[in-house]
Amino acid sequence: MSPTSNDVIGNEQLNKSEQRPYKRVLLKLSGEVLVGDGAFGIDTDTINRLAAELIEVQQSGIELAIVIGGGNIFRGMSGTASGMDRASADYMGMLATMMNSIALQDAIERQGATVRVISALHIKEIAEPYIRRRAVRHLEKGRILVFAAGTGNPYFTTDTAASLRAMEIQADAVLKGTKVDGVYTADPKIDPSAQRYDTLTFTEALSKRLGVMDATAMSLCRDNHMPIVVFDVTTPGQMLKAISGEVVGTLVQES
Ligand code: GTP
Repeated sequence: MSPTSNDVIGNEQLNKSEQRPYKRVLLKLSGEVLVGDGAFGIDTDTINRLAAELIEVQQSGIELAIVIGGGNIFRGMSGTASGMDRASADYMGMLATMMNSIALQDAIERQGATVRVISALHIKEIAEPYIRRRAVRHLEKGRILVFAAGTGNPYFTTDTAASLRAMEIQADAVLKGTKVDGVYTADPKIDPSAQRYDTLTFTEALSKRLGVMDATAMSLCRDNHMPIVVFDVTTPGQMLKAISGEVVGTLVQES
């Protein structure tokens, strides 16, 4: 049966045996989710709500590492578009992720949970340097981890940082929390007939340029058998559902 408008494409429902039991996840948050209803920066209510949800996930026994973008403060790509040197713009983007990471750490700590910020750039007065084995140890001790400064290299996005760190810490999945509730055939804000995918293969996502993540990040996940779940992090409760393996958003995996 061909899908109709607003249908979900792919598996209608995954049965119990196909549910996704994650023990350790890498959550990629776009910086934009911190903006809330504003246009720029960090909205206090929004970051507090997010922190409460992250703590709920941590307390459910899931080992949680987070990579956060910086687009709510500075976008490397926009800087480049306005004539900046790409490397300089990307370094500014990395510093923006550092600001978001510190804000998230602060919001989590104020609600009583333990969290460590680990930076790919050496800013040791602010955050621990990235040492893979130490990061894993923090997770084993039940601390929430926030990876700041992307990969520490220009020309790589925070999506790629998320994929890389997910591989390094041997996460079970990358959870991509965005403002959209999954991957669509077209931009649902522009095309009302756009349909959401329930499941998708990496090959399909790459060949159709569906914008799950950039191609470098997607290829890394595909080549290392790392599933990606795209879900709406702005709707309260979705994060725990996605991380608990409930069918929300779009699951991208090998066929
Ligand atoms: P354990 O060794 O498992 O006990 O981990 P821990 O993080 O509790 O202990 P540690 O003594 O390594 O760190 C204590 C505090 O200092 C934590 O809040 C760390 O995040 C922080 N910290 C550790 N190393 C650095 C660093 O190089 N720079 C900064 N800014 N903070 C650091």
